[in-house]
Amino acid sequence: MTTTTQIRTGGTIVAGLPFPEFRHIAVQPMTGACGCEISGVDLREPLSDSVLEEVMQAFNHFGVIVFRHQDITPEQHKAFSRYFGELTELPQAPTYGNHEDMQEVRREADEPDSVVPSFETFHVDSPFLPRPPKCIIMRALDVPRFGGDTAFSNAYLVYEDLSDAMKELLEGLQVVYSGKHIWANNEKLPPERRLRLRDHHQFTEDQLESAHPVVRVNPETGRKGLFATTSYFQRFVGWSQEESRVLLDHLQGLFQRLHYHCRVKWEKDTLIVWDNRFTLHRGVHDYANERRHLIRTTVIGERPIGPKD
Ligand SMILES: [Fe+2]
Repeated sequence: MTTTTQIRTGGTIVAGLPFPEFRHIAVQPMTGACGCEISGVDLREPLSDSVLEEVMQAFNHFGVIVFRHQDITPEQHKAFSRYFGELTELPQAPTYGNHEDMQEVRREADEPDSVVPSFETFHVDSPFLPRPPKCIIMRALDVPRFGGDTAFSNAYLVYEDLSDAMKELLEGLQVVYSGKHIWANNEKLPPERRLRLRDHHQFTEDQLESAHPVVRVNPETGRKGLFATTSYFQRFVGWSQEESRVLLDHLQGLFQRLHYHCRVKWEKDTLIVWDNRFTLHRGVHDYANERRHLIRTTVIGERPIGPKD
């Protein structure tokens, strides 16, 4: 329940804000909540300043930007990714071929669902890192004939719809995420249920656990979003396990609401950039006996900034 009602009159509101004017790219919102498709851009070529500025504006506004028919090389994929920032590897995600700075999400037709992360809830990738990823740039090489979509939930809208009292409670709160147990937990599973994980990485043990603000501020726009999710969650700082779990379950439940979502149907050469700070995502595992192969880069983010920083 919300205790505040925003009265919106006039103009087009999408993803919670007035629809910006785009002059150099075509932008089609996917839903009223988040996500847009961008056309008129060829990612094989460097982008002009004016196109780049609008692509970044769309990224900040919609959280998820989708480009279709982008038959690009890994080097072109990386070059486009660097417009968003510095690329990083991840401790757990398998790399793509010889590209240490690319990851792949691959499930062969005859493999079980579990070889790729099948988080049953919306999540953020690697929130346990001191500087969790800013965004993921993912492209489809091979897609199922049907199914295997990726869904997103807008963390700005979830935050903005909270009551004032809940916002106040959360604004000073920190959340601890840990990735220290990923490998040990995987080993405990029967072989047919194990994730495909990296067996070596350069990260130290310290870098696999962090405390971050629950309410996160976009350093470019000042907009606030909720940064609380079950994956890798340990506790809220100063709260007992029991209290932490009750609050987390409530917050996680909010992200499931359909009016915060968009859902992307992959086609070969679809490329998506999603903001890993202000949207949550999940794959939809409804593609039994179908191959799905996605490759991605990960851009390192800022150390999360809270409202009181
Ligand atoms: Fe993920």
